[in-house]
Amino acid sequence: RPQSWQGIDDIVIVGGGLAGLFCALKLAPRPVTVLAAAPIGQGASSAWAQGGVAAAMSKGDSFDKHLADTMAAGAGIVDAKIARLMISEGPDRIHDLLAYGVPFDRDLEGHLMLSREAAHSERRIVRVAGDRAGGAIMEALITAVRNTPSIRVMEGYVVEELVVEGRFVSGVIARPDAGQSKARVAFPARSVILCSGGVGHLYQVTTNPPEARGTGVGMAARAGAVIADPEFVQFHPTAIDIGSDPAPLATEALRGEGAILVNKAGHRFMTDLHPDAELAPRDIVARGVFAEVTSGRGAFLDCTRAVGAHFPGRFPTVHASCIAAGIDPATQPIPVVPAVHYHMGGVLVDADGRTSVDGLWAAGEVTSTGVHGANRLASNSLLEAVVFAGRIADHIKGMLPESRLYEWPKTAGENDDLVTLEDSPQLKRLRNLMSTHSGVIRSADGLKALIRSIVELERNNSRVRFANMTATAKLIATAALTRCESRGAHYRTDHLETDPALVKRTYMTLADADRI
Ligand code: SIN
Repeated sequence: RPQSWQGIDDIVIVGGGLAGLFCALKLAPRPVTVLAAAPIGQGASSAWAQGGVAAAMSKGDSFDKHLADTMAAGAGIVDAKIARLMISEGPDRIHDLLAYGVPFDRDLEGHLMLSREAAHSERRIVRVAGDRAGGAIMEALITAVRNTPSIRVMEGYVVEELVVEGRFVSGVIARPDAGQSKARVAFPARSVILCSGGVGHLYQVTTNPPEARGTGVGMAARAGAVIADPEFVQFHPTAIDIGSDPAPLATEALRGEGAILVNKAGHRFMTDLHPDAELAPRDIVARGVFAEVTSGRGAFLDCTRAVGAHFPGRFPTVHASCIAAGIDPATQPIPVVPAVHYHMGGVLVDADGRTSVDGLWAAGEVTSTGVHGANRLASNSLLEAVVFAGRIADHIKGMLPESRLYEWPKTAGENDDLVTLEDSPQLKRLRNLMSTHSGVIRSADGLKALIRSIVELERNNSRVRFANMTATAKLIATAALTRCESRGAHYRTDHLETDPALVKRTYMTLADADRI
């Protein structure tokens, strides 16, 4: 505990994405501090979501149908009870988002417009202006948060450590990322809610913002939390391959509209691989694209017939990304590559978002609730974020009487050197190794080599932020090595089949990973 520790926050939320802001709003008027690494809305994957929120709200749809689709995508290891709970609370959370001012698309009669995405048997995705759902949801929540006096938002604070006292998490240590200050800042709290996002930037090619680098999973694991299903990393098949980091996304709604995948020779390769061709499950399309790209044949998303001149109006975000790179997607095929998009694994939580460590709750992509199994169904991620963030707020309000102790502390802690990791050769090496050995395809030899390299990187680095990343990388690699089968997004070239004996989730602590 830093010597300058003083005062106590009631509730600290780590992360300013959808889960963090929704939870803060649901807790109001109870005082909360939101610590965000970047200005809220800028460092969160939620703001970049092009799909929407899945919810069974149409006449022909039902919770059972949504559950069946979620379970089928999850390849045998979805927690059906938790998934049903999420799905049944979906419509109410959509109404909450509407009440916060999210302008979901409506038809001429004013009913919500519901669209369909791959592997959904019904139209059940609420969207905003085509591909703008994530941005529009975040804009509405940011406005609501700024207008809520009980929410204190501190932007530019990178949380590096959870403070554990005995069996309890009793606060966090953060570092202001910008400016001249090297001082670390302690935020004591009675409850810490981790909403810090995914792991994309542990890999070379990702659709996630740079803040999504696995530090939340690593921090929780280093505090002793159980991590579930870390081996399941979802690759989106169609990130736009223009050499930029992060890689912009070409939403799968384009394939839903009839866009096709072709190689340099113009061959429509997905018809060779699956009866549903471009609309096959996401992991199968990702492997198809990966095979074309790595063989040098190249992969392109051809939207010229399916979307053509309607591109700017129907898919404004994708259109803008392509035009900025000198590609007119209305008339030219878009070069694509698979990119890390979503982590199904994460910090194990129960139905109320409680982790295995007292005082620590978690919501959003940093968690593993069990609803996604081995492969997430499109647009279930924003749904999961709001449902479990809401449940955490209810749980905390019911459990902890409001504190009268809090004051907003802002105290200097120990010093450490302030080197941004974005440019560090170690991080570049880690990202390269993860993509090579723990990517779209994996094998025991590659994963063993990867684990040895991660251990070596750990030994040569003392920085806390990097330790969080290597902890997460180690959990992903070790769980991937231990799961000797192929299932959903986890594909082993040395174990091509799905093993019915392995229909179970992975639960792993950092100590377990170190022993393997
Ligand atoms: C997409 O728009 O292709 C992504 C949707 C999702 O990841 O849920």
